[in-house]
Amino acid sequence: MTKMKEVGSMGLKMNEKDLRYKVYEGTEGERAIDISSLRKDTGCIAFDSGFVNTGVCSSNITFIDGEKGILRYRGYDVADLAKNCEFIEVVYLLIHGSLPTEGQKARYSNLLNSHSLIHEDMKEFFSHYPDHSHPMAILSAMVVSLSSFYPEMGENYKEDVDMKVTRLISKLRTIAAFSYKKSIGHPTIYPKHDLSYCENFLNMMFSSPVKEASYNDVMVSALNKLLIIHADHEQNCSASVVRSVGSAGANLYASISSGICALWGPLHGGANQQVIEMLEEIERDGGDVDKVIERAKDKNDPFRLMGFGHRVYKSYDPRATIAKKLCMEVIESTNNIDPLLDIAMKLEEKALEDPYFVDRGLYPNVDFYTGLTYREMGIPTDMFTVMFAIGRLPGWIAQWMELKDDPHGRIARPRQIYTGPTFRKVEPISKRN
Ligand code: ACO
Repeated sequence: MTKMKEVGSMGLKMNEKDLRYKVYEGTEGERAIDISSLRKDTGCIAFDSGFVNTGVCSSNITFIDGEKGILRYRGYDVADLAKNCEFIEVVYLLIHGSLPTEGQKARYSNLLNSHSLIHEDMKEFFSHYPDHSHPMAILSAMVVSLSSFYPEMGENYKEDVDMKVTRLISKLRTIAAFSYKKSIGHPTIYPKHDLSYCENFLNMMFSSPVKEASYNDVMVSALNKLLIIHADHEQNCSASVVRSVGSAGANLYASISSGICALWGPLHGGANQQVIEMLEEIERDGGDVDKVIERAKDKNDPFRLMGFGHRVYKSYDPRATIAKKLCMEVIESTNNIDPLLDIAMKLEEKALEDPYFVDRGLYPNVDFYTGLTYREMGIPTDMFTVMFAIGRLPGWIAQWMELKDDPHGRIARPRQIYTGPTFRKVEPISKRN
C-alpha cells in the first residue's frame, strides 16, 4: 500500500506555545495536517461538523478532484473504465487493485455464477415482508442475514477472499431481484449460468414463468456502465459508515448492511428515487420548472433540487456526464418519448444559468439522470437506490478490506462538544414537576 509522504510541517501558536504539526501528501498532491496530538497539546479538539475538512484514512482506491471533475478508480479514469470494461472487470479492479486478464475474468465470472443462488430458507424471508416494503429495507436485512447463513464468510476474510467477496457480489444481485418480485407478488426467477452479470439481473427482474424478459443490448451495456460509475466514491457517507462499523470489528456483511442503510438516505443514494418523484410532481403541476427553481432557492423552504449539488464536486459530476449520455442512448433504443427527460433537461438548463446555483457550484450529480435511465429499462422507482447499492458494493468491500489491512487502523470514535445541562441531582419522582 502506498503511504502518505511527510512533506513538511505547519506551525500553530496557541497560549504562547509554538506547536508544529506534520504535513503529509498523497500521490495526487492532496495535503493533510496531522493533528493527532492536538488535544494533548492544546486541550482542544478539532471541530468539523459533517467532516468537511477531515481526512480519516489514507486510501489507494479512489481519487476525486471535485474542482476539476475527476474520478479515478485505482488510477483509471471512470469514463475510460465505463467505455472499455464490463462491471465485473471493475469489481475485480477495486478488490484486487489491477484489471483482470482474460483468464482471470473468465475465472471470476465462473465464481460469480457458482455463488449466485441464495439459501432456500432465506427465500422464505421475502414472503414475510409486508406488501410494498421498501426494497432497501429488505436488502439491508438480507445482507446482514447472510452472516448467519454463511458464517464462514465473516471469519478470517483473507482466507479465500475471492470466494467470500464474489459470494456477496453475486448474491446481492439475486436478493435485489427477488425483493422486486416479492413487491409485485410474482414468483422469483433463479439466476442462470449462461448469462452475464448484468443480463442475469435483468432476466431475474423481468422474466416470469409465463414470459421471457424483454430488454435490449443497449440496456445491458448501459447497466454495466451505470454500475461502473457507481462502483466507488472514496469516503462518502455510506463508505464511511462501512468503515466505521468495520473498525469496531464487525464482519463484512454487518458492515455492508449498515452502508446500505446509509445509502438509502435521500441526501445520499436515495436521491435517485427523489429525483424522479420530483420530476413527476413537476409534470403533474404543468411542467413549471421556474417554480421549482424558486422553491429550491427559498431559504424558508426545506425543499432542495434533488440530484443537484455535491459535497466534493464543485463542477459537473463526471458520473452525471456519463449518466446523461446513457439515458439518451437507452431512450433512443426504445423509441419512447419520456416527458420527464424534457423536464429534467429544462431544469438543468435553468439551474445552470441561475446565479444561486452557479455561485454555490451546484451541478447535476450522479443521481440526476440515472433514475430516468432505470425507468426506461422498466425498473421501478423504489428499486433505484437498490441499483446504486449493487453498483457501490465492490467499493464498500474494497474500503472494508483496506481498513482491515491497515496495521494502524483504530476504532472510529469522533469526539463532541457537550452543550447539555451541567451537573444536577435526581429529584425523587414525587417532587418532579
Ligand atoms: N438545492 C438547493 N440548494 C442547495 C442544494 C440543492 N440541491 N444543494 C446545496 N444547496 C445549497 C445549500 O442550501 C447551501 O446554501 P447556503 O450556502 O446559502 O447555505 C449551499 O448550497 C451548500 O450546501 P450544503 O448543504 O452546505 O452542502 P453539503 O456539501 O453539506 O451537501 C448535498 C451536499 C447533501 C449533496 C446537497 O447538495 C443536497 O442536499 N443535494 C440534494 C440531494 C442530492 O442530490 N443528494 C445526492 C448527492 S450524490 C450522492 O450522494 C450519491
